[in-house]
Amino acid sequence: MAGYGAAMTDRLDLTPDELLTTTRAVRKRLDLARPVPRPVVEECLRLAFQAPNGSNEQDWRWVLVDDPDLRVAVADVYRRGLADHLARDRSGEPEGPGASPRTADSVAYLVEHLHEVPVLVVPTIGGRYGTDSTFQQASRWGSILPAVWSFHLALRSRAMGSVWTTLHLYREQEMADLLGIPPGHTQAGLFPVAYTIGTDFGPADRSLSDQRIGWNQFPG
Ligand SMILES: Cc1cc2nc3c(=O)[nH]c(=O)nc-3n(C[C@H](O)[C@H](O)[C@H](O)COP(=O)(O)O)c2cc1C
Repeated sequence: MAGYGAAMTDRLDLTPDELLTTTRAVRKRLDLARPVPRPVVEECLRLAFQAPNGSNEQDWRWVLVDDPDLRVAVADVYRRGLADHLARDRSGEPEGPGASPRTADSVAYLVEHLHEVPVLVVPTIGGRYGTDSTFQQASRWGSILPAVWSFHLALRSRAMGSVWTTLHLYREQEMADLLGIPPGHTQAGLFPVAYTIGTDFGPADRSLSDQRIGWNQFPG
């Protein structure tokens, strides 16, 4: 395995707390014009592979898409997933505030430009979870999502960014067909990767954290 730090790239001087509080969902500030070298993405993935995973099976795969035509096709699947999401039956859903106008605008921007993002990443985990117990589901999702977040943190530390997206999963099979993902693997999301336009990201408002922590009892 190649050593860390081998790839030529920008490095941000962030403390661990700064890294954890400024790794944001980046859409409009993805630099669509600056190429992302493959070795830099691979280095971030080597870091991500250090994440915990059940029984240390590492039963994950990462499909990295930088071919321009394939990016167009991947982005089309995402757009169809978004259309499904907007057209879904919402009768069983709880009332919620929904996305802010700012987030909705940002989401719309990403949809329009997704195919222009230099690298699109689709990680998978082995198994299908339709009727699994909570134990099985938690064990399996818990065996890929920490690695995905480590990937985001590694990107941020190298002046790159991404945004967690799941909308294409309405069309998971279409993406599987496109990328050659065999049956028996579950996609965790779609993660666009680019250098960020500027690196000055700040903490988000997560003030609810004070109300959502309970010592010795479930927080009311
Ligand atoms: C499980 C999950 C699914 C998400 N799906 C999408 C998505 O499909 N498209 C999108 O643009 N953003 C998606 N997001 C990003 C959220 O909208 C974003 O994290 C949220 O607005 C908060 O932004 P922040 O992390 O920068 O504070 C998703 C985030 C998570 C954790």
